[in-house]
Amino acid sequence: MSKPRILVAREIFPEVIARLEKHFEVEYNSADEAWSPAQLIAHLQGKSGVFTTGSNRIDAEVLKACPELKICANMAVGYNNFDIGAMTAAGVLATNTPDVLTETTADFGFALLMAAARRMTESEHYLRAGKWTKWSFDMFAGSDIHGSTLGILGMGRIGQGIARRGALGFGMKVIYHNRSRLDASLEAECKASYVSKKELLETADHLVLVLPYSPESHHAIGAAELAMMKPTATLVNIARGGIVDDAALARALRHKQIAAAGIDVFEGEPSVHPDLLTVPNVVLTPHIASATVPTRLAMANLAADNLIEFFSGRTPPSPVNPAVLAGR
Ligand code: GLV
Repeated sequence: MSKPRILVAREIFPEVIARLEKHFEVEYNSADEAWSPAQLIAHLQGKSGVFTTGSNRIDAEVLKACPELKICANMAVGYNNFDIGAMTAAGVLATNTPDVLTETTADFGFALLMAAARRMTESEHYLRAGKWTKWSFDMFAGSDIHGSTLGILGMGRIGQGIARRGALGFGMKVIYHNRSRLDASLEAECKASYVSKKELLETADHLVLVLPYSPESHHAIGAAELAMMKPTATLVNIARGGIVDDAALARALRHKQIAAAGIDVFEGEPSVHPDLLTVPNVVLTPHIASATVPTRLAMANLAADNLIEFFSGRTPPSPVNPAVLAGR
């Protein structure tokens, strides 16, 4: 029997390609550039599965042009590059890569929080520019992490990982807001208390965003929300671009409405709002929160597992729209 034909739409680890080649006839984009929608559609012709990353959009137009497609395996936990409604309607399975990146991403959220609150990149730029000529009592004085109040907006697995780090490692008081409240046992394990979004914004010394992007979470943090935060507060976004209004954030940072920010994800990335590039009190990183070698490899292998299990007739490990499997 001939092997199913799949497309790997972005460059990934060669060992994962080799694994996929045992099961599939693989076409591979090794160019390290995302294809345009038209190029993606052209390469998807005759393919029944695709390995995607967040830079590949799968929407109604792609689905209509690629009627043989049965599964899109995203190498990311977030899947806002997929139109899930259109995929389910077309009977196309979506899968993502949860769990394997939780701790690595929580580590990075904490690193950004510490770097922003303690002004690490701002002071490094000063040092590298040869401006450090004397000691001053208030030189790059920032905010404390230990003993402060950590706010978390979005309390899924990564939010819980950040809560544990804050409560257990740094003695922080942890408050959170989420669409639904955690079970009491999970709240106790994370030492986290549920509060309203208003209380979260007003009382957090450091606020970390870890909620999924959706039309409802678009600009969940805009000018009005930033105005509710403490002038000493730090904002960290490791969730998705578009959850924060980047122009409003740049204004709030410039006017010291909040003290600092650490931002890994941007509206319209890889473009970055030019105003964010000129404010000093923000640490900017290029969407790398899950980027350790072992975790990226685990993500790629989990995306591959989803393809392999699906085409073997078994239940893939991490379906996003499992209703599609019921109709198999
Ligand atoms: C990264 O942003 C992911 O969703 O995995």
